[in-house]
Amino acid sequence: MATCPAHQAKYDVRTGEMMEKPQVRPDAPCEYAEVRIPLPTYRVRVTQDGFLEIDV
Ligand code: FES
Repeated sequence: MATCPAHQAKYDVRTGEMMEKPQVRPDAPCEYAEVRIPLPTYRVRVTQDGFLEIDV
């Protein structure tokens, strides 16, 4: 799970689906309203040297 640092929305990193909505008042502006859901996701590997390789 990944958490947006701005308003604490939570996303499933495997699927990009929103798991918990942002912690904002209903009338407060929040960029999530313009975010495409599910979020795009990418395959990630850890190399033998400990680096992350991301398919973009
Ligand atoms: S939850 Fe990410 S910008 Fe509001």
